Amino acid sequence: MKRVFIETVGCQMNILDSELVIGSLRREGYELTREPTQADLILFNTCSVREHAEEKIYSALGRLNGHKRDFPDTVIGVLGCMAQKDQELVRKRAPIVDIVCGTGQLRQLPQLVSEVLRTREPQIAVSLGRKEASRHEVETSFESYDPIRDPSMRPTPFQAFVRVQIGCDKFCTYCIVPSVRGPEQSRSPEHILAEVRQLVLEGCKEVTLLGQTVNSYEYVSGDGRRTRLSDLMAAMNGYEGLERIRFITSFPKDMTPDLLEAVRDLPKAAKYLHVPVQSGCDDVLKRMKRLYTVGEYRDMLARCREAIPGVAISSDFIVGFCGESEASFRKSCDLVAESMFRNSYIFKYSTRPGTKAHDLFEDDITDLEKRRRNNELLEIQNDNCLIDHRSRIGDEVDVLVEGLSRYGEKSSDNGPRQMTGRAATDHIVCFPGYPRLVGQMVKMKIVDASHFTLFGEVMTAEGVAPTSDGIWDWSPATTFTERRIGLPVV
Ligand code: 5AD
Ligand code: SF4
Repeated sequence: MKRVFIETVGCQMNILDSELVIGSLRREGYELTREPTQADLILFNTCSVREHAEEKIYSALGRLNGHKRDFPDTVIGVLGCMAQKDQELVRKRAPIVDIVCGTGQLRQLPQLVSEVLRTREPQIAVSLGRKEASRHEVETSFESYDPIRDPSMRPTPFQAFVRVQIGCDKFCTYCIVPSVRGPEQSRSPEHILAEVRQLVLEGCKEVTLLGQTVNSYEYVSGDGRRTRLSDLMAAMNGYEGLERIRFITSFPKDMTPDLLEAVRDLPKAAKYLHVPVQSGCDDVLKRMKRLYTVGEYRDMLARCREAIPGVAISSDFIVGFCGESEASFRKSCDLVAESMFRNSYIFKYSTRPGTKAHDLFEDDITDLEKRRRNNELLEIQNDNCLIDHRSRIGDEVDVLVEGLSRYGEKSSDNGPRQMTGRAATDHIVCFPGYPRLVGQMVKMKIVDASHFTLFGEVMTAEGVAPTSDGIWDWSPATTFTERRIGLPVV
């Protein structure tokens, strides 16, 4: 039996790619190992959004130098965004690498591995650069990688990511994604819906639709028929067995009324939107080329909240972008303070060669100052989280139970242990539970709250016993705690 190890960094798109890559390698006879030194094939699925994520991978590759010297037959591959961005440079910086495979070439991977084993020569498969050829040629060189799914490869079999769109055309000045993931292309509704139907047949209860600007999804069929994200969701809402439909990440300007109505009206639609604003200052937004003002973003938030009662909204912020003055930063603080986001994901600006901002502006905020701004913004967000969480005490919510919480994993109690799941608003809910709840949608009452978590109690229907036979089987097979593959390291 051949063994493969994979380490995944970055976003949900990468987690999905890793799941699919491992699925296809299993069909070639590979088995997954958690120990790189035990593996015949060591893979890194990489991210280029911030420099830190790339440095982590180069350090990990550096640590494998001795292992590759002792075991030269081990095949080492770098996949994803960094492979597409750095290409030959990957092997210059890390000569032990045998395979460089970009985001749009993952289908080739099993073949690239065979070629390395046959020829002992390094293999590079990358897509065309955005300016290297016509739009059509560049598009075809980035292939959406959506092979047959393998339920055993998902961290939890009842949840799945589904790609609806690849690439990005927004070209925000700080962002490397349009270069490394190529032009925005929507997958055909037939393919997406067939994939979701298959997932539901396999027992999947929650799908998360993925796209860099997922709400810009639009597919025009040969006969001119247009399908929007709201149409996809309406179709999925009819699938028996599917219980929740989520989507990430949305672009503020493309938040159309039909989508808000779909989120409001479709019972299975999660009442949750992730709509990154990036900054609370118009000057900064302009330099970022985000295509909206803070006022327009505020109006969009108001429209979402008016259309969907109780909707939870989260956002992303970049602190320390080129030329961000203290006054500009304060405007981001004000926006976080007033917006009551469900969460804010805050990032220190990292200049990326190959982006407009890298060429045009000076990265003039020190790292120390970026860190201060990051912490300050986070504190404001955390205060709001606590207020939001406390306001939900007493609510009754539907929680899709994922498994043991970290706390529950450490417990050895032969009885209830702490479990975790998510409400339709994406809030994390912890509660004392039992193994049979894993993968179930369960009604809970919120009884307490902290900064990061809601605490719930199961509102068990009368007569339902915690265990069928009096045995509390907390083994990894029943709780899925052993199944998480390629956890992100950033
Ligand atoms: N530096 C820091 N953060 C970035 N992001 C994208 N590019 C950069 C960069 N160069 C952040 C944005 C985006 C999230 C996925 O990553 O906030 O929404
Ligand atoms: Fe990057 Fe902007 Fe596209 Fe998001 S919308 S992936 S931040 S270019």
